[in-house]
Amino acid sequence: VSETFDAREYWEQRLGKEYSLHGVGFGGLGQSYNRWMYRVRAAVFRRVLRELRIDIARAKILDIGSGTGFYVDLLARAGARDVTASDITQVAADALAQRFPQFRAVRLDVSDGVPEGTFDLVTAFDVLFHIVDDARYNAAFANIYASLAPGGRFVFSDNFLHRPSQRLKHQVSRSLADIEQAVRAAGFAIESRRPMFVVMNAPVDADARALERWRRLTRRARESERWGSFIGASLYPIDRALTRVMRESPTTEVMICRK
Ligand SMILES: C[S@@+](CC[C@H](N)C(=O)[O-])C[C@H]1O[C@@H](n2cnc3c(N)ncnc32)[C@H](O)[C@@H]1O
Repeated sequence: VSETFDAREYWEQRLGKEYSLHGVGFGGLGQSYNRWMYRVRAAVFRRVLRELRIDIARAKILDIGSGTGFYVDLLARAGARDVTASDITQVAADALAQRFPQFRAVRLDVSDGVPEGTFDLVTAFDVLFHIVDDARYNAAFANIYASLAPGGRFVFSDNFLHRPSQRLKHQVSRSLADIEQAVRAAGFAIESRRPMFVVMNAPVDADARALERWRRLTRRARESERWGSFIGASLYPIDRALTRVMRESPTTEVMICRK
């Protein structure tokens, strides 16, 4: 599969057509629903930042696969002053440089290498599961490990399946066991893992019936923005609460690792 997939070409096309949270988010669900999903992500990310207990104003931070810069913006709002935004596409690297003149923005493929440096924090949200080639997936962890200062943290999202990996053309949901192995092989210690979503995102880590139920629940959001807004607003408080209390989820989760 990996030989026929050109990640840079795919993302240049996708972001070139739709450079928005919708373009980097969940394709079929519309802008309104995606906006509500991003609010959950923001809430979880702020919790993670608090838990890391790092001096954010002094930290040297690298965000990988920044896309529209959603997390770069959250970092700026949290008081970060030294952030490097990055993306595999020129489209995003150029737009990020414009949007965040106070920071750096670079074009890079994380599997080929990341800026030399001693980062205190590296983040990669909804990026690594788009690396379909396993050797390149492992290379990404090794490169990130090398870019961190001793004790530095790496925070990323993935689907961490409690079942065999699921391979699509432009995305691989890897098993928890495979991901833990890749993380540890790079040298990281795993600190924690928690849900990014519980009900708002497709339950890829559950059986076919759960997926069917979720499709029915979100069906209207695919039909109109009004429905997307209504369903998104209804599910948002549920996920805000559930992501706080649940340890596992049937969908995307966030892992924190330490060098
Ligand atoms: C699903 S989007 C997520 C964007 C952003 N992190 C967010 O959560 O809003 C994935 C992003 O990763 C970028 N990307 C994909 N593969 C990459 C790679 N190998 N190295 C760096 N960036 C990559 C894409 O261009 C895209 O902007």
